[in-house]
Amino acid sequence: MFHIPIVPRVRKRSRPAEAGVARCEEVKFEDVRLYLVERKMGSSRRSFLTQLARSKGFIVDDILSDVVTHVVSEDSEASSVWTWLKESVLKNLSNVQVLDISWFTDSMREGRPVAVETRHLIQDTLHPSPESSPPTAKATVSQYACQRRTTTENKNQIFTDAFEVLAESYEFNEIEGPCLAFRRAASVLKSLPSEVDCMGATQDLPCLGEHTKAVMEELLQCGHSFEVEKILSDERYQTLKLFTSVFGVGPKTAEKWYRRGLRSFSDILAEPSIHLNRMQESGFLHYGDISRSVSKAEARALGNVIDEVARAITPDAILALTGGFRRGKEFGHDVDFIVTTPEPGREKTLLSNIMDELKEQGILLYSDYQPSTFDISKLPSHRFEAMDHFAKCFLILRLEGSQVEGGLNSAEGDSRGWRAVRVDLVSPPMDRYAFALLGWTGSRQFERDLRRFARLERRMLLDNHALYDKTKKEFLAAATEKDIFAHLGLEYIEPWQRNA
Ligand code: CTP
Ligand code: MN
Ligand code: MN
Repeated sequence: MFHIPIVPRVRKRSRPAEAGVARCEEVKFEDVRLYLVERKMGSSRRSFLTQLARSKGFIVDDILSDVVTHVVSEDSEASSVWTWLKESVLKNLSNVQVLDISWFTDSMREGRPVAVETRHLIQDTLHPSPESSPPTAKATVSQYACQRRTTTENKNQIFTDAFEVLAESYEFNEIEGPCLAFRRAASVLKSLPSEVDCMGATQDLPCLGEHTKAVMEELLQCGHSFEVEKILSDERYQTLKLFTSVFGVGPKTAEKWYRRGLRSFSDILAEPSIHLNRMQESGFLHYGDISRSVSKAEARALGNVIDEVARAITPDAILALTGGFRRGKEFGHDVDFIVTTPEPGREKTLLSNIMDELKEQGILLYSDYQPSTFDISKLPSHRFEAMDHFAKCFLILRLEGSQVEGGLNSAEGDSRGWRAVRVDLVSPPMDRYAFALLGWTGSRQFERDLRRFARLERRMLLDNHALYDKTKKEFLAAATEKDIFAHLGLEYIEPWQRNA
């Protein structure tokens, strides 16, 4: 808690000539202009807090006027604050945030204006009007996915499916800008509580460019987009899409095969000069199973299997479901887990022990193990790397139908009684747990925007290992995801709201 020392002796009243002028050696936050309400606070405490804020680079006005952006009051009675404000000189109350002292103390502690959260607001409960609600309470949509709440319920799938096709097509052609633009646009639409039914509804939405809007307009008018249809019927797109659906085949390999005139799996498998690596071989071998989605019940069953194996190795093993299933998805392309232990250093060998045991049980169909390369002294990393440095493995496991509540999500006519499932395991050291959990929960777009927000809005670097404050030149510790959101000055977003 921020500690306010004994109030020093100060002048009772500021001289008129100085009133309303921010006297501060160095203004750090140009866009923020505070006004502290004297009622309930008292004049000496008000002066003291004013000095304190100014010493930290805040602008504090002595006089209330329309240039003030943040009004801070210590009056716990919202109605009296608002009655007073409505009788004040302010012409437009919608331009100002009316805040509780907690926002002020949070900001002093952080040394910067923290993001306004609902708990900071003094709400005009007696006479709520659109004019009096502060900007955060309005239906403004942030350009950052980490400031939006996105459940699995997508009301705008007609648009987002089309955008995904376009993004993928640009990705195949290695055109990064438009690819990202379509992914961002899709993410914004996914966060909306209702379907966009006219172009007017997109007016205040961020991340929608001309191209995106043209596609939306077409979809609204005739139910399909000419451009998207063209891509979907394009032979190259179809082939690359098919090839990259194989585990171990990325866009580069797919393109290489396409250029050699190959168009189908049988073309590839019949071509003697093609040498498949181990991953691709497993990809083809288990194609039917691992291209079919994994159900929540199957994910749970795998959790039980791995939990039992891990606990047999070390009783204090910790297993957590991450990825899409942690976000509440009903189906996924794989199942992602964090497996670790509180014993320092033990996490480095835990995964290979687990894999040995899975092999022993005859359920390890494929494994790609990547030992830990984590070195705390190499942090912070300025370049976000696609992979983190924790020990991890990409597996294909055999899952028995008898272990799954309600049975397997099998293809029709399949009577084997088991199926192959893709499983990812990652094993961070315990003090990195919160960062790894946040990073592996996703979605990818949510993660991208968390890092972008940290970098651009907070001068901080976030990845799966750590959070680094470039201004303070220090790492910010976190035991939970909530700690990380708090360091970033973000409202906490639950895992099931991260389906950006
Ligand atoms: N991830 C990561 N490092 C990797 C692999 C994945 O940080 N080497 C993260 C991704 O950023 C993603 C999360 O782990 O946010 C889960 O990845 P993935 O399984 O590919 O996606 P899901 O969101 O789980 O989607 P699905 O349900 O299709 O599996
Ligand atoms: Mn996943
Ligand atoms: Mn995964």
